Amino acid sequence: MKTLHVNGAAMPAIGLGTWTLQGKECSRLVDAALGLGYRHVDTATIYENEADVGEGIRGSGVPRGEIFLTTKVWWTDLAAADLVRSAEKSLRLLGVDYVDLLLVHWPNPQVPLAETMDALGSVRERGLTRHIGVSNFPTPLLAEAVRLSEAPLVANQVEHHPYLDQRKVHAACRKYGMAMVSYCPLHRGGGALQEPAVTAAAARHGKTPAQIVLRWHVQQEDVAVIPRTSRKERLTENAAIFDFSLEADEMEAIGGLRSANQRICDYSFSPEWDAS
Ligand SMILES: NC(=O)c1ccc[n+]([C@@H]2O[C@H](COP(=O)([O-])OP(=O)(O)OC[C@H]3O[C@@H](n4cnc5c(N)ncnc54)[C@H](OP(=O)(O)O)[C@@H]3O)[C@@H](O)[C@H]2O)c1
Repeated sequence: MKTLHVNGAAMPAIGLGTWTLQGKECSRLVDAALGLGYRHVDTATIYENEADVGEGIRGSGVPRGEIFLTTKVWWTDLAAADLVRSAEKSLRLLGVDYVDLLLVHWPNPQVPLAETMDALGSVRERGLTRHIGVSNFPTPLLAEAVRLSEAPLVANQVEHHPYLDQRKVHAACRKYGMAMVSYCPLHRGGGALQEPAVTAAAARHGKTPAQIVLRWHVQQEDVAVIPRTSRKERLTENAAIFDFSLEADEMEAIGGLRSANQRICDYSFSPEWDAS
């Protein structure tokens, strides 16, 4: 599997997304994914599954040092004391001494970003996380976060799939030496997987539409993907994307679907997104 080298972090280009997975089902899938060779797991406090993810990691027997583990601080916990408490609680629930990446899940204009970035830096200095980053940060806010952070940011995790234009965010991440981590990379199993540009490439390469879309992500420079599945057989399918390449015209045809301009994760607390 491919590894991204971004601002001092070595991040496997594919990880397991765990939103909605809980309890034994979650532990079993994390355990199975690690058994199949996944080395990157994405969780968050708001998913209420950190204890289950931790159990899956321990059950797999894969040494902690081989796993890139990400969690996130919810946007209502971005004041310094709340952020520190949130990070400490995540480690307790996960049953680990550190995570590899701690992300600000969403920006919160009610808390000065300088305070949040300082607190994030302080938990990194204490060794609770190896690396820090952000999620759902459009380019002006990303520039601000980079400016305010003493330690380099290694990732901006954002919604990204063929139906959404994230070229501005991607260019900004590359400028700062960061990864762009694509969430909802499979358009949640939606229409993007049925597009002729995708299904034609699938037929040509003998791959499934999901594999074509995941390959389209990781074939872009410094882009990682964290597809979620609740089915073991799809764990194998989703990771089998490093034994073929898409042609330039196939990359372009799938990228061209961006004009659909569909954003799945948009809430009352969302920031002002980059115009496409
Ligand atoms: N930072 C943020 O704000 C944020 C927001 C959303 C998500 N995330 C993270 O990103 C991860 C991924 O995003 P997501 O879960 O929203 O969406 P996603 O990974 O794009 O889609 C998941 C859906 O796709 C289906 N699927 C998985 N593999 C498939 C395949 N090979 N063929 C067809 N369908 C397939 C799954 O169904 P089955 O279970 O039936 O396979 C599931 O319904 C999350 O789990 C979470 O870790 C972060």
